Amino acid sequence: MTKFYPVKVADVRRETRDAIVLTLDVPKEYKEAFRFVPGQYLTLRATIDGEEVRRSYSICAAANDTHLRVGIKKVAGGLFSNWASEHLAPGQTIEAMPPMGNFHVPLGAQQKRHFVGFAAGSGITPLLSIVKSTLTAEPQSSFTLFYGNRASSTIMFREELEDLKNEHLDRFSLIHVLSREQQDIDLFNGRIDKEKCDQLLEHWIDVSSIDTAFICGPQDMMVGVAQSLEEHGLDKRRIKFELFATSTPGRRQRRPEEAKAEKRQNLCEATIVIDGRARTISFEKGTSSVLDAATAEGLELPYACKGGVCSTCRAMLVEGEVDMDANFALEDYEVARGYILTCQSYPVTDKIVVDFDK
Ligand SMILES: Cc1cc2nc3c(=O)[nH]c(=O)nc-3n(C[C@H](O)[C@H](O)[C@H](O)COP(=O)(O)OP(=O)(O)OC[C@H]3O[C@@H](n4cnc5c(N)ncnc54)[C@H](O)[C@@H]3O)c2cc1C
Ligand code: FES
Repeated sequence: MTKFYPVKVADVRRETRDAIVLTLDVPKEYKEAFRFVPGQYLTLRATIDGEEVRRSYSICAAANDTHLRVGIKKVAGGLFSNWASEHLAPGQTIEAMPPMGNFHVPLGAQQKRHFVGFAAGSGITPLLSIVKSTLTAEPQSSFTLFYGNRASSTIMFREELEDLKNEHLDRFSLIHVLSREQQDIDLFNGRIDKEKCDQLLEHWIDVSSIDTAFICGPQDMMVGVAQSLEEHGLDKRRIKFELFATSTPGRRQRRPEEAKAEKRQNLCEATIVIDGRARTISFEKGTSSVLDAATAEGLELPYACKGGVCSTCRAMLVEGEVDMDANFALEDYEVARGYILTCQSYPVTDKIVVDFDK
């Protein structure tokens, strides 16, 4: 589960001026491990300037596509996205962890549902996979996608989305919302935020027709759209999120000297179970997250963002209590079942047992 596998870069396509699409060739022997459901992401690992860097990228391929594909959009000053855009080339090998994530609903051929997607910028990547897979797997279902961008030149997967629309004219409705390019229908000008979503729900789409809404984009957009959907009557359980980065920093990591100043010298004994093996480590409460403490002891654990966003570090807290600083990834039902984000969890009790295999 923690394992990274070498995968070959089969193709690098420049999608827009600042986005690429990587096609990855997974060797036959790992194919099973890389089976995915639409909406899941890969964690990629590379060594950049001597530093190990891990980042998550959503799969944009449909469930039945033969190749794995991810879309990477450059973030200003961003380490991995700029490196990938400038250095990755066909034939190179990169390391990837098998697909993870819960940004999906199970599909069934007999279902007749109406899904709605709200995406902004690179947030289209998981939605492209979800839309394509849904239209294929549920022939009676329909999808309405609102996709926000600055201008038509920055729209990722523009042609692919148009093709999809032409192929499924009666079941796929695609609405581009542009913030810096004027369109004829005023409703589709501007940014996708709460106010825009309110207007869309009042003038364009009937909320009672929505079975599930998927939202992927910046945090403020996601919060606004979700709030609007709920205010218009959509049950919270029918709203699925995927967050790429947070603008709200979690509680900052506490430093050892701060903890000492607080005279919190008490130790926690943490048993970590992973890949069927248990190992017990001991560390001072309040100084390190469970993930940091365990990796410092040499344990190979899964993680990517270390910011409470991606859920790669998810594990089950089997015994004891932790304080979870930030959680932008786990759903309420997962927390209720005992799952924690180990990168954000600080032990409260003297003993904890954390199981990555559950
Ligand atoms: C589950 C998941 C799926 C993701 N899927 C995709 C995807 O399909 N395509 C994609 O392009 N990215 C995706 N991301 C974001 C991706 O993992 C990286 O965070 C992003 O590429 C920036 O990494 P970096 O190393 O270039 O920037 P860093 O060096 O990590 O960050 C540089 C600065 O940019 C900010 N930042 C980081 N990410 C973003 C962002 N997305 N938008 C705006 N500011 C940001 C950081 O806070 C920091 O200030 C996903 C993230 C998660 C958690
Ligand atoms: S590593 Fe991303 S949530 Fe913990």
